[in-house]
Amino acid sequence: MNDNFNTIAGWTLFAGIVALGLSIGSGLYFQADKPHRPHEMGFPIEGVVEAGAAEEGPALATLLAEGDPAQGQAIFAKCTACHTIEQGGANGIGPNLFATVGEPIGKGKAGFAFSSDLAGHDGAWTYENLDAWLKSPKAFAPGTKMTFAGLGKAEDRANVILYLMQNGGGPPLPAPPAAEPAEDAAAAAGDAAAGPATEPGADAAGAVAQPQPAAAANAATAND
Ligand code: HEC
Repeated sequence: MNDNFNTIAGWTLFAGIVALGLSIGSGLYFQADKPHRPHEMGFPIEGVVEAGAAEEGPALATLLAEGDPAQGQAIFAKCTACHTIEQGGANGIGPNLFATVGEPIGKGKAGFAFSSDLAGHDGAWTYENLDAWLKSPKAFAPGTKMTFAGLGKAEDRANVILYLMQNGGGPPLPAPPAAEPAEDAAAAAGDAAAGPATEPGADAAGAVAQPQPAAAANAATAND
């Protein structure tokens, strides 16, 4: 009787141990302890961003043309917890950001250990890519280590990008669709003053032609 009880208890214990072992073993085998993540993050981000930018508010090119790097520097205070900006600055939680505009995404930076999502990201830090990244780092590269929610205001992003550009340069700014007519008008007014004057007071027109459209564009930005 007693012996029988011990035998049953022993086998029950043994079965429990085997079941537990199988559970742990299969968990490890199927990597149930790790979050699952597809190998390829196949988001066609560039297209999506361009479409989005076209819909809402002034275009990125316009914001960059009218933006202010000094305001970008003030916003960059949110970044300095993790980033330095000066040339040769140390990598911290995030990489040093000197001369980042136009650089390949997630490369270089004195050997900073980028996440595989950012290091494996195609392309370079174009203005569009930086804008999308700073809007939502997680949307741009889901596995990124940059735990920063993003800058919601398009103006803020443009100003920060201008500030980044001020520190190490970058490719030429995209041509702003709204600012072009202003430049043309100013140039045309200048031509008119030099050649046969079709309008009276071409010099005066040249003096005021530039500020006017710029003011109008600023008003449009403020309304948005
Ligand atoms: C909490 C820390 C943190 C904050 C705040 C932060 N970043 Fe980052 N940033 C990182 C980390 C970490 C990475 C590397 C991301 C990766 O490897 O996935 C990074 C990467 C970047 C990169 C890519 C650099 C490259 O060479 O590819 C840029 C650009 C960048 N950050 C800009 C900014 C800007 C601008 C701000 C402020 C608006 C900011 N970050 C705020 C931590 C931060």
